[in-house]
Amino acid sequence: MKSGAGMVTRAKAARMGDQAAKSGGSGPITVLVVHGPNLNLLGEREPEVYGRTRLADIDKDLKQLGRELEMKVETFQSNSEGGIVDRIQKARGRCDVLLINPGAYTHTSVAIRDAIAAVNIPVIEVHLSNVYRREPFRHHSTIADIAHGRIMGFGAESYSLALRAARTIAEESRQRSG
Ligand code: DQA
Repeated sequence: MKSGAGMVTRAKAARMGDQAAKSGGSGPITVLVVHGPNLNLLGEREPEVYGRTRLADIDKDLKQLGRELEMKVETFQSNSEGGIVDRIQKARGRCDVLLINPGAYTHTSVAIRDAIAAVNIPVIEVHLSNVYRREPFRHHSTIADIAHGRIMGFGAESYSLALRAARTIAEESRQRSG
């Protein structure tokens, strides 16, 4: 029989099974943390808004917290929208939860929103600053309505709060999928 559009072939079913095993099965809970444009300059960039903690230190602390919570934490930063889309796609079937601070792309990117919707991984939107205390153009987020939750306004601590929440989300979703 020919396999038409929308039809799941045996090979495809096996691949999907593999993906589920990697993300939802017995392996460690895996969280991908994505940082968007200009966040590589944290610590130097507008410290009165974003604080003095460098991105490398945020990532190091998240990996340490991940070890304490028995989760694998992968981190990624890109200044380019396409780079972020590629990394989100790569997480498909491999990560339990995505933590993302899309930086300025929060307010503009349909491509990042579409990538998140495509991979079907629960998302926590993270911001260092409370965007609602800032310029009106920062009040809109293209991903807010598809995010599981949003954490903002706590500086670098926003990320660690999100990582703790990620553990609960991952456990719940693994329980649901059996
Ligand atoms: C930010 C808020 C965005 O408006 C801004 O463009 C950033 C950082 C935050 O973490 O507070 O780059 O996402």
